[in-house]
Amino acid sequence: MSAPSSDAIFPVPASWQRRAWFDNAAYRRDYQRSMHDPQRFWAEQAEHLDWFHHPTRIRDVSYGPEDIHIRWFEDGVLNASVNCLDRHLLERARKAAIVWEGDDPAESRTLSYAELHAEVCRLANGLKSLGICKGDRVTVYLPMVPEAAVAMLACARIGAMHSVVFAGFSAESLAGRIRDCDAKLLITADEGMRGGRRFALKANADEALKRCPSVQACVVLRRTGGEVAWLDGRDRWYHELVDHQASNCEPETMNAEDPLFVLYTSGSTGKPKGVLHTTAGYLLAASLTHRYVLDYHDEDVFWCTADIGWVTGHSYIVYGPLANGATTVMFEGVPTWPDASRFWQVIDKHRVSIFYTAPTAIRALIRQGDAPVRATSRKSLRLLGSVGEPINPEAWLWYYNVVGEQRCPIVDTWWQTETGASVIAPLPGAIATKPGSATLPFFGVEPVIVDEDGRVLEGECEGRLCLRDGGPGMLRTLYRDHDRFVQTYFSACPGLYFTGDGARRDKDGYFWITGRVDDVINVSGHRLGTAEVESALVAHPEVAEAAVVGYPHPVKGQGIYAYVTLKANTQPSDELRNALGQWVRKEIGPIAAPDQIQWASSLPKTRSGKIMRRVLRKIAAGDTTDLGDTSTLADATMVESLIDGRRTIA
Ligand code: WT7
Repeated sequence: MSAPSSDAIFPVPASWQRRAWFDNAAYRRDYQRSMHDPQRFWAEQAEHLDWFHHPTRIRDVSYGPEDIHIRWFEDGVLNASVNCLDRHLLERARKAAIVWEGDDPAESRTLSYAELHAEVCRLANGLKSLGICKGDRVTVYLPMVPEAAVAMLACARIGAMHSVVFAGFSAESLAGRIRDCDAKLLITADEGMRGGRRFALKANADEALKRCPSVQACVVLRRTGGEVAWLDGRDRWYHELVDHQASNCEPETMNAEDPLFVLYTSGSTGKPKGVLHTTAGYLLAASLTHRYVLDYHDEDVFWCTADIGWVTGHSYIVYGPLANGATTVMFEGVPTWPDASRFWQVIDKHRVSIFYTAPTAIRALIRQGDAPVRATSRKSLRLLGSVGEPINPEAWLWYYNVVGEQRCPIVDTWWQTETGASVIAPLPGAIATKPGSATLPFFGVEPVIVDEDGRVLEGECEGRLCLRDGGPGMLRTLYRDHDRFVQTYFSACPGLYFTGDGARRDKDGYFWITGRVDDVINVSGHRLGTAEVESALVAHPEVAEAAVVGYPHPVKGQGIYAYVTLKANTQPSDELRNALGQWVRKEIGPIAAPDQIQWASSLPKTRSGKIMRRVLRKIAAGDTTDLGDTSTLADATMVESLIDGRRTIA
């Protein structure tokens, strides 16, 4: 085996060229067609969906500079839940749709397509009985149980928009997301289970709902049987709501551009953004990439380890796999409980053939050594996927050599909540891979790299990653904030969608994502705005000011580094440091708790009062040899004291 090197090229194995959906020539041909004759190409692809009325108007897209609009399959009529359920009933009624693996290895559950269809219909009828109509918003705050997918599909069935909120978010975060979209209903559970421990959900929901007058009813799933407070008139048990409902429910007819869901994600400023996806374009992008990038075939068992609260769970646990009639594994637990073999045990138990996880999980497992992997067979595996953050070549090679035993291609898929589905990723039968590169664009996607001034660069280059076209899966707007949509994505480089990431293109045209260039950080694949963490910190009574940056972290990819200035009469202490960590957990959720807090008597500001984050990032990374130009700082001497303060931290 050659020494680890990011210049290494892994050619497509001959067997893959033959059996995968696309070989290299076919990929190049169809990519060109998708660029030069998009109307015809996408009209053909649209036939992968089941329509009540087939679309004739295929693509109407403008990324500006003047008019910005994204419309796909505009006159088509369909229903997403019909595409994920009803159309499989003829041939796959008894095939496993969802294989659920509980946190406790002794617990698992399988729902066939027929059973899932019936469950979805019962809940859809239940939602209707509570007065939920087409266009209403339903917030879903559930652990990783099949009912989470059922809830999403039940909303889709009746044309309500779901807004799934990650179960690890706090009451405060939940309330903000409910209020922003004026949800009429909340679906939650008593508690969730992870790593052998229970965590509260209904208690957070109760706290949140105090501030959410739009919510008329709260449906509660019994997961653990833990005790919950109850508000008569508002709270309803899930099982009581669905038990007496009919197991069929006429699907709502939806226009292709009718909203399917909102999903909140962090931006570089202010409160989370409600990314809005519509029905047909999103569903087609999710299902096509699931089929072609993740090479799904009928006999596969597919497992994406993401949480349903993130876009990866939406697209690759629920919509993509189910639209393709796949068996999708849903895992409630964590990779290291009861022990570090858990992922690989689950793969053996359910004969998983396609496995899709995040670099942070891979890095955490590398630390446990090879033995927990080698203790399992993994012979069912044939493809490995990576998503959520840049994968370092060391992690890529371990995934390839140890987990996949050099038998399974690695697909590193770059995308975002906003793109809905993978946009830069290898097709495993077509594209040779290089560890650390997401390789080449998917059909219909045109990435471009621009410099600081927004000029498009050609050939080998590095700069900001934009899209001239992101295909049908792109977000259509930010919910009820179209101005912010235009401002955030289309103002940096007129005529282009700005991704927020930096990227390099090599001599073969391969893309290497270098990470966020805005004030968004990616902690264990979870996207957070530094501004969100800062505003949580300054909400603490002892805190005068805070600046938060990301810094390199061996497992999480990026860690959270907070510089905190205390109020005049407050003394720094380890107790206060812990208290601030707890405070952020409560304000946002455990994922946002700072890894490091450095006390700072003041923060480096320019004369105009802007915090010089570039300097703070460098100090946090321990890289202070060249801080760049600090001449615009109001007080340049304080930088030295920050560097001294850094030494006391790690
Ligand atoms: C950000 C989007 C993709 C769905 C899950 C995260 C980073 C994502 C990769 C990758 C390098 C990646 C980017 C992107 N990212 N995948 N394969 N290589 N970076 O969705 O929460 O919207 O975060 O995740 O920085 O902008 P998200």
